[in-house]
Amino acid sequence: MNACLSEQRQDEFLRRGFSRRSFGRIAALLSGGAAALPFFNEPALAQLSAIREPIPPDAVMINANENPLGPCEEARAAVKAIVDRGGRYLYQETFSFTDTLAEQEGLKTSYVMPFAGSSAPLHQAVLGFTSPTRAFVTADPGYESGERAAEFIKAKVVRVPLTETYAHDVRAMVAADPNPGLYYICNPNNPSGTLTPKEDIEWLVRNKPAGSVVMIDEAYTHIAGAPFMSYLVAQDKDVIILRTFSKIYGMAGLRAGAALARPDLLNKIRPWSAGALPITGMLGANVSLKQKYLVPERRKKIADVRADVLGFLDQHNFKHTPSVSNKFMVDVGRPGREIIVAMQKEKIYIGRVWPSWPTYVRVSIGTQEEMDKFKTAFLKVMA
Ligand SMILES: Cc1ncc(COP(=O)(O)O)c(C=O)c1O
Repeated sequence: MNACLSEQRQDEFLRRGFSRRSFGRIAALLSGGAAALPFFNEPALAQLSAIREPIPPDAVMINANENPLGPCEEARAAVKAIVDRGGRYLYQETFSFTDTLAEQEGLKTSYVMPFAGSSAPLHQAVLGFTSPTRAFVTADPGYESGERAAEFIKAKVVRVPLTETYAHDVRAMVAADPNPGLYYICNPNNPSGTLTPKEDIEWLVRNKPAGSVVMIDEAYTHIAGAPFMSYLVAQDKDVIILRTFSKIYGMAGLRAGAALARPDLLNKIRPWSAGALPITGMLGANVSLKQKYLVPERRKKIADVRADVLGFLDQHNFKHTPSVSNKFMVDVGRPGREIIVAMQKEKIYIGRVWPSWPTYVRVSIGTQEEMDKFKTAFLKVMA
């Protein structure tokens, strides 16, 4: 039926309630992931709010939750030095990164699966655990990448509004669907930048229906200084944690990440397209993990700029989410798209609008200088 899916794999998908018509899409997601389906990841989603003109070289890009600091000095030097050996696969770099991460997370290495970023394990978990009858349960507004992947392969998607304090409503998420495959918790949440208490996530893990899996996307957890929940993985719970080096470590373009979970869960998301990972990303991540100063220093830098820009919004009475992350949502009191377009005319590229919050736009936190430009332009377009 489809060259990319073995007979055995096809049978498995049919048993899980997929129709043969979905095979082409499943194969596309399996073999290409974010590369073949560019509308699934953050930079591609950020394009949705771009106007169709070339981006000026001096534009302020605060639309994709990137880290303007880039990789740390130590990672840059190591990556530059290894480029000369780029003709080799150097699998040892991947093993070494896996060992460092496992040690720091308090996990056996068999519980750590390295990837080039975290989009691939996110999509592959959708393939592994959801289907037309087993729902992908997510927050609204939430990070759309997983739900887009689920919709693409025609799995069921259930969206549950955030609570009044902008946390995941874990009790409503459990009540929302009788047969969930995957609960997706992004903590702190993208786009709101807000936290879900650790106790609520623990409650979800205790009370979810048997056979379902909780995936905790900790892309921004370092920035918030919130507790990592890898201890749930060490306790062999039905939990998958996603790690990325695209955010606090500033390596979005270099690509490194990992899924942390029990080996039997990792086996369900193991990439069919498995192969060598980029030595630049693996080495850069490994070196970054070893810099003890890095996370606290960057967390403080981002927090200082965030405090300044949120203080500015308060001073001018703009309603915003109480973000602890590197992005926030602000209510512009009119269709958000209008402000996005007006800001782009000022050469400030902010993020997108979520359909359930049509008057809010998402803004990523850049450098102080970039946010000063944002403030000036925002007052002008909102006047
Ligand atoms: C919540 C969340 N998860 C995962 C990702 C995927 O990023 P990457 O593939 O670069 O790790 C992003 C990107 O912005 C994100 O916001």
